[in-house]
Amino acid sequence: MKTVKFFDTTLRDGEQTPGVSLNVKEKLEIARLLQKMGVDVIEAGFPASSHGDFEAVQAIAREAGENVTIAALARLVLPDIDRAAEAIAPARHGRIHVFIATSEVHMQYKLRMTREQVLESVKKCVAYAKQKCPDVQFSAEDASRSDRAFLVEVFEAAIEAGANVINIPDTVGYATPEEFGTLVAYVRDHVRGIERAEIAVHCHNDLGLAVANTLVAAQNGATQLECTINGLGERAGNAALEEIVMGLQTRADYYAGRYGLTHRLDISRISRTSRVVSALTGVEVQQNKAIVGRNAFLHESGIHQHGVLAERTTYEIMTPESIGLVEDNMVLGKHSGRHAFDDKLRQMGYDLTPQERDQAFEQFKDLADKKRVVLDRDIEAILQSNIQVPPTFTLSHYQVSSGNKLFATASMSLDRDGETVRAAASADGPIQAAFNAIDKAVGCRFELETFSIRAVTEGADALGEVVVKLTLGDVSMIGRGLSVDIIEAAIRAYIGAVNRYFYEQKQRQSGAQT
Ligand code: KIV
Ligand code: ZN
Repeated sequence: MKTVKFFDTTLRDGEQTPGVSLNVKEKLEIARLLQKMGVDVIEAGFPASSHGDFEAVQAIAREAGENVTIAALARLVLPDIDRAAEAIAPARHGRIHVFIATSEVHMQYKLRMTREQVLESVKKCVAYAKQKCPDVQFSAEDASRSDRAFLVEVFEAAIEAGANVINIPDTVGYATPEEFGTLVAYVRDHVRGIERAEIAVHCHNDLGLAVANTLVAAQNGATQLECTINGLGERAGNAALEEIVMGLQTRADYYAGRYGLTHRLDISRISRTSRVVSALTGVEVQQNKAIVGRNAFLHESGIHQHGVLAERTTYEIMTPESIGLVEDNMVLGKHSGRHAFDDKLRQMGYDLTPQERDQAFEQFKDLADKKRVVLDRDIEAILQSNIQVPPTFTLSHYQVSSGNKLFATASMSLDRDGETVRAAASADGPIQAAFNAIDKAVGCRFELETFSIRAVTEGADALGEVVVKLTLGDVSMIGRGLSVDIIEAAIRAYIGAVNRYFYEQKQRQSGAQT
C-alpha cells in the first residue's frame, strides 16, 4: 500500500481566493485544525509577499508539531528564498517551496525569459534554497501547458540541484484527466533521478476537473496531493481536500484495490474544518457542494427518503457521521453550568486558554437566556466569532428605529480606549442607518461590498450570522457578527470589519518601520 501525502494550501493558494484575507490569528486557527486532521504539509503562506504573510508563516512554524511540515512559497529569486527560510526557521520540519513558470506563454509574456535563463535560474536558486533548508520543493508553474521535453529537463535540473519534491501544477485548470494522468506517468518514467524525489500535483478547478485530475495523478505515481479546504483558491479554486480524501476512502475498493492507494487523514474532522474555514474566510460553501455542502446528505424526494429509511445505502454512498456531521447528543441550555460547558468544549475537541473559556462561557450564558437550547453549532459559531483582531472600537449600545412609513434612524455608541464616541444617522433601512452611524462615529466612509446573512441552526430563535465585506481605498476586510437579533449581528459584523481595518493600518505602519 502507498499512503498519499496531503499538502494543504488553504493558507496560501486558498487565501488567493478573491476577497479573502486572513489575519495571523485566523491562520493559526486553521493551521491547528489542519494538523488535527493529519495533513502532512501545510503551505502557510508566501512570506515575501507581505509583512503579514511573513508573520503568519513564522507564527504557524513556531507552533507546528512533530508530524507536520510547514512550507513557505518563494519565487525563484534569492530574496524570496531568504525570506521563506527565515519564516519557516522555527518549525521542526520546514520546507522552502520555490516555483517558476515553464510554459512558453508564461516565459515569453510574464517572465520575459528564455528557456536557458529559466534553466539557469532553476539550477542556481534550487541549490541556494537547499543550502538554507534540507527540504526543497520545486514547482514548474503551468506544467500542463509546458513542452514535455523541456519540463523533463527542468525537473532533472531541479532534482540535481537538490529538490526532493517536484510539483506538476495544472495552474489554469486546463488539463483533462486522461492527459494529466499521462503527463504524470511521463514525468515518472522519463525524469532522470526521479527516484530521489517525490512527485506532487497541484490542480486548479477552472473546468471543474481539479479533483478528477488529482486522483488520476495519484493513480499514475503522484504521492503528494495538493489541495485546499472547500476547494478555495485562485479563480475557480483548487482541488478540494475533502473530495479527494472521501474519493479515496469511499472508493477504497478501486483506489486501494487496484492502485494500492491509501491515506491517513482523520476524516471525522472534515465537517468542522470546512465550517471554520468558511466562517473565517467569509466564503460560503455552495449548498450542493460534494461532501460539505448543506445538501450533501439531504434526501428531498419521497422515493429517496423511503429508500434511505428502508436501507441507507440505497442513496447514501458515505455517512454524514464519517465526516463528523453528527446530531448533538448533549445539548446545553440556560441551566447548564460551567462544568457542563467545559465538558462540552472538551468533547468538541477545543483546547482553550482559561481566558478564552471564560469569555466563551459568558457568551454562552447570554445566548442561553435568549435561546431555548444551545447546540454544538452555536458554540462553534461563538468560538469563531471570538477569533478577532484586538478591537479599536467596541459596541457599547445602539438604538435603531424603522417602520414601513418611516425613514430609519440609528444612534450608535462605541468605546475607543475608554472614551465613548457617539453618532446618529438615517437611511432607507435600519441596517444601512446603523452602518452610516458607525461610519460617522469612527470617522471613515467605508464601502459595503457584500452582505450575507444565515441562520446558524434551525428554528425561530436561531443565532443569525452576518458577514460583511467593506472596502476603503485599496484595503478590503471581512467582518462577522453573531446574535439572535439580526440587526445586532449586522452591527457587530460591521464593527468587526472596521476594527480589522484599523488593525491592518497599524500593522502596515509597524511593518513599514521594521
Ligand atoms: O497554481 C500554481 O501553479 C501555483 C504554484 C505556485 C504551485 O499555485
Ligand atoms: Zn495554484
